[in-house]
Amino acid sequence: MSAPKQIFKVTIDNITIDVEQGTTVLQAARKIGGDVAPPTMCYYSKLQGSGGKCRTCLVEIAEGSKADPRPMPKLMASCKTNVMDGMVVKNITSQKVIDARNGVVEFLLLNHPLDCPVCDQAGECDLQDLSYNHGKDGTRYEFERRTFEKEDIGPHIQLHMTRCILCYRCTYVADQLTNQRVHGILDRGDHSEISTYISKAIDNDFSGNMIDVCPVGALTDKTFRFKNRVWFTKSLNAHRNCDKCCGQVTLWQRGNEVLRVTARKDEWNEVQNVDGKPGWICNDCRFEKKKTSDWVIEGETVINRHSVMAQGKYPGLIKPKETIADVMSGRQPKLLMDIHDVSDVNEPHIDLSLIQGAATSKTFDKDSKQPT
Ligand code: SF4
Ligand code: FES
Repeated sequence: MSAPKQIFKVTIDNITIDVEQGTTVLQAARKIGGDVAPPTMCYYSKLQGSGGKCRTCLVEIAEGSKADPRPMPKLMASCKTNVMDGMVVKNITSQKVIDARNGVVEFLLLNHPLDCPVCDQAGECDLQDLSYNHGKDGTRYEFERRTFEKEDIGPHIQLHMTRCILCYRCTYVADQLTNQRVHGILDRGDHSEISTYISKAIDNDFSGNMIDVCPVGALTDKTFRFKNRVWFTKSLNAHRNCDKCCGQVTLWQRGNEVLRVTARKDEWNEVQNVDGKPGWICNDCRFEKKKTSDWVIEGETVINRHSVMAQGKYPGLIKPKETIADVMSGRQPKLLMDIHDVSDVNEPHIDLSLIQGAATSKTFDKDSKQPT
C-alpha cells in the first residue's frame, strides 16, 4: 500500500492553505480562487503534460520552503512548480510578477493580428481577457507580423494560424482524445505552426474538442463562423443520450435557433468534469444536433468566469428596486419632479423612440423641433 500523501502548508498572496504533496502552485492558487489564481494560456488540467509553454502563470517564490526559506532567484511557472511545505508565493502582490506578465502579454501579441472585431472568439477569448487585464496600450513591435493562409482541419474546423499562440493544447487533444494523431507543430521558433501532416483532414469523433481548448480564435467551428457574436446568444445547459460521449452540453441560441453546441465550461474556461471525468463531447453532439428538439433543456447556463458573456448572468445579482413605492417602503413622494423640468438635455418635444439611429448632440439642439 502506498504511503498517505503529506499535507503541505503554502501561502499565496498572504493566504495560507493546506494542500497535498504533489500539488502545483497553480492548483493551490485555484483552490483559493479569484485573482490569486494566475492566468493560464497553455495549462489545461484535463490534458496531461500541458503547461510550461506560455509563461503567463509566472509567480514569485519569496520563500522556497520551511526547511530552506531562500527565495527562488527567478520567477517560476506556477503550472509546473510543485508546492513545498512552508512555501511563500506572491502573485498579484508582486510587482515583479505584474511587470513580467505585462511583458509576456506583449510577446504573445507580437504576431497576433488583433482582429477581435471580426474574430469569432471575441468575448470568450483568454488572450483578449489577458490583454485587457495585463496588456499595454501600444506595441513596440515595428516589423511585419507573420501571417499564414487559413487551413481547413477536417470538415468542421478551421485553423487560422495567424491567431495561434502555440499553446500546444490542441495537439494534446489530438494525442490524448482522438485515436489518430494527424496534426502537430511543425518547424521551430518564428516559423512554428500547427498543421495537419500533408494537409490530412482530422476526421474522428472527438476532434471538435480542439475548438473548446483553443484559448484564442485560431481553431473555430465552421458551423458557427460569423453567425453571431457570443454575447448576443443565450446559453442553455442541455443533454441527450449519446452512446459516444457524456451528452452534456451548452447550447448557444439566438431566438429559438441553436447556433452552436459546445462542451460545458468551468470558471477556468476548461471543460467541466461530468461524473469525475472531463466532459468532452463528440462531433455528433457538437456539429449535427442543432435543433432544440434534439436536446433536453435543463436551464440557463451559469457563467461564473469574468467575461463579457456573463453580462446579465452574474450569479447572485441584486436588481435595484424599480418603483417609487418599493424604494419608499409604500409611501408616496411629497414632490415629484419631471426630469424635463430640471434638465436641459432631454427636451420634452423630442420623442426618443422616433430618433433614427443613435442620438447625437444635434438631436437635442434647442432649435430643433423634429427628431433628427
Ligand atoms: S491552434 Fe489554438 S489550441 Fe492549438 S496551439 Fe494554437 S492557440 Fe493553442
Ligand atoms: S500556463 Fe503555465 S506556462 Fe502557460
